[in-house]
Amino acid sequence: MQKAVAGTVQRAGEAVAGGAMATNKKVQNMKPETFDPSESDRITSDFGVLQHNTDVWLKASTGDKQGPALLEDNFAREKIMRFDHERIPERVVHARGSGAFGTFKLYESAEDVTSAGVLTDTSRTTPVFVRFSTVLGSRGSSDTVRDVRGFAVKLYTEEGNWDIVGNDIPVFFIQDAIKFPDVIHAGKPEPQTEIPQAQSAHNNFWDFQYMHKEATHMFMWAMSDRGIPRSFRMMQGFGVNTFTLINKEGVRSFVKFHWTPTIGVHSLVWDEALKISGQDPDYHRRDLYTAIENGVYPTWKFGIQICPESRADEFDFDILDATKIWPEEVFPVRYIGEMELNRNVDEFFPQIEQVAFCTAHIVPGIGFSDDPLLQGRNFSYFDTQISRLGVNFQELPVNRPVCPVMNHHRDGALRHRITKGQFNYWPNRGSVVPPGTISEGAYVDYPQKVVAMKQRLNSVKFSEHVNQAQLFWNSMAPHEKLHIIKALSFELSKCEDPIVYERLVERLAEISLELAQAVSDKVGAPKPEQESRPNHGKKSAALSQGHFAPEALGYQPTIASRMVAIIVGDGFNFAEYEAVKGALSAANAFCFTIGPRKSEIKSSGKSVKPDHHFESMRSTLFDSIYIPGGEHITTLIKQGRVLHWIREAFGHCKTIGASGDGVKIVKAAIGIEGMRFSESGDGEVVDCYGVVTSAGGKISVGNALKMAKGAKSFLDAYAYNISLHRNYQRELDGLTELVAY
Ligand code: HEM
Repeated sequence: MQKAVAGTVQRAGEAVAGGAMATNKKVQNMKPETFDPSESDRITSDFGVLQHNTDVWLKASTGDKQGPALLEDNFAREKIMRFDHERIPERVVHARGSGAFGTFKLYESAEDVTSAGVLTDTSRTTPVFVRFSTVLGSRGSSDTVRDVRGFAVKLYTEEGNWDIVGNDIPVFFIQDAIKFPDVIHAGKPEPQTEIPQAQSAHNNFWDFQYMHKEATHMFMWAMSDRGIPRSFRMMQGFGVNTFTLINKEGVRSFVKFHWTPTIGVHSLVWDEALKISGQDPDYHRRDLYTAIENGVYPTWKFGIQICPESRADEFDFDILDATKIWPEEVFPVRYIGEMELNRNVDEFFPQIEQVAFCTAHIVPGIGFSDDPLLQGRNFSYFDTQISRLGVNFQELPVNRPVCPVMNHHRDGALRHRITKGQFNYWPNRGSVVPPGTISEGAYVDYPQKVVAMKQRLNSVKFSEHVNQAQLFWNSMAPHEKLHIIKALSFELSKCEDPIVYERLVERLAEISLELAQAVSDKVGAPKPEQESRPNHGKKSAALSQGHFAPEALGYQPTIASRMVAIIVGDGFNFAEYEAVKGALSAANAFCFTIGPRKSEIKSSGKSVKPDHHFESMRSTLFDSIYIPGGEHITTLIKQGRVLHWIREAFGHCKTIGASGDGVKIVKAAIGIEGMRFSESGDGEVVDCYGVVTSAGGKISVGNALKMAKGAKSFLDAYAYNISLHRNYQRELDGLTELVAY
């Protein structure tokens, strides 16, 4: 599915960012360990001895008969020994992931609230590495499971590494880090069977959710479309925990960190996510790699929500409680920078697998808060990395800061650094490597007054758990509500123990009676007759994904990197095919030709070689499909698989385009009551529920596409619908249920 395969084209990251690479401090920093095998390179042992035969083990042999292999073959033993030890422990959580390098550019100084150079110096470009992940699955699990996604950013700042180790959901299941082993044990495969892999749809996960009312808000997010993102590139990222910022005057504010994608926040639909799990388990990994390799670099705006210390106690929730958002109506997000991912890794293992993030990695001008989840995290990451990577993991190229590192830490397994001299302690009589001073920019802990009893207790406000779950539900668009109902109905149906799904339905009745009743009906739990807690009716616009549509953020609609399948058979209309493919590709959509075979498909003197055949790809892997007109329709219309492509795309609310006789097959596949198609050959264009048809088939190729609501030309209307991602109205009006897919 990759459009450009590394090695066959110049890598976009290198071509476009070419000049910048020479000055990118992280690229330079990793250079000593980065090798590019050249034609003149030959196999040596790990100790540099050139090898002559690495295919046949040294053995006692007469040539006509096999004899015993000899232990003397040092290289054979080295090769096997290295292989035997290739695996390291996978991450205990977030084992499955992928990532890329990029840059962070600040466009507005936040010097009023922080002294951090990375957040005040607008002339800087800070190198970054980002790793996206799922939480529950093993390293080899599928990308599109329903789960929270990790969104961990390492900023290689001039004052040291700053890690924002966040998720695509702004809240968490638990309030106190001591509960982390419990929530993860309950979510991971059950201990007696190690089933199910990478799924929250089982007894223990939902039992935990019920037993911990604090998880109510978070499970609503996980059951929403956020749990099945279309792409890592289309996810928001949140620091989740409350941190602090400290300015030059020493004034401290509380802060939440936000990453907002500039191409919108979009999701799969559940049926599609399930199918992709089998059809392309690497779907998100491939998507990120392909976009970057083709020069369509994902970008996120970076924002901060600030709460002055003086206002910290004003709210009905505790601002240090990680199960709560800070509503944007109360704390507007101030966007001050932008992150772009523009370079794929050179090798997965040393860079993506060995990267080590930690919430404790902060730089001067940034501080922690007393958020009890954060305090535990600050301990946990470093600790787990010692067993996953070894105590010297900070020396690995991907983890190494771009600024100078010097101290009196020493030794440990696999120490690389060689520090000269006599002194490995402080203070020493030679005054060698003293601590820094404040004027030199040393990290200084904020002097915080603490007066309290020592006891196992969280603050009073930590005991309210339903208000924001209601706020989230109330703020959902109708299709988002429907998806939550469907998700909970799926998940709870997989719990065999009635106590699990029955009690959970009771919990839902505290959020919304409508939700509880819809789910109870599906999962066979007693139907709640009344809400067990009044719904406050409040909403917050920024909780719905639609709030982050590119147009809402002031960006033009875009189809860049959208995957479009063009379906052809022998006799397709080449002019229509070429016009549509050309126009969409010019707008940076990734177009793929799909035919009955990968060998040439003919069309009145012309021919194309499809990228895939109908069986090797499915509609699930594309954002849209287009069917040009031509004689091929008489054959294709009799093929169940082709009709299934169209029906499935319709069922998943995707934009479908057809011109000329192509309209006939679309009508044959989804000609249900409620749908209208272009009938006349005079250039009529019909856009019905995102199915855009033009029976006349004449496609005018003007200048650039004009993607706008109500666009009149076939191409403009078709592209605009693709830019909208999905047509959920189709689902809300019940049309998708009328089609078998
Ligand atoms: C606000 C809630 C949390 C968020 C947003 C979060 C996020 C993340 C992310 C994004 C990763 C993957 C890092 C990577 O890509 O390598 C991760 C890994 C991990 N998290 Fe968390 N986490 C949270 C809570 C916790 C808590 C409470 C603990 C423990 C007390 C914890 C322990 C871990 C551990 C042990 C790893 C594996 C790290 C490694 O092996 O390198 N997390 N977390």
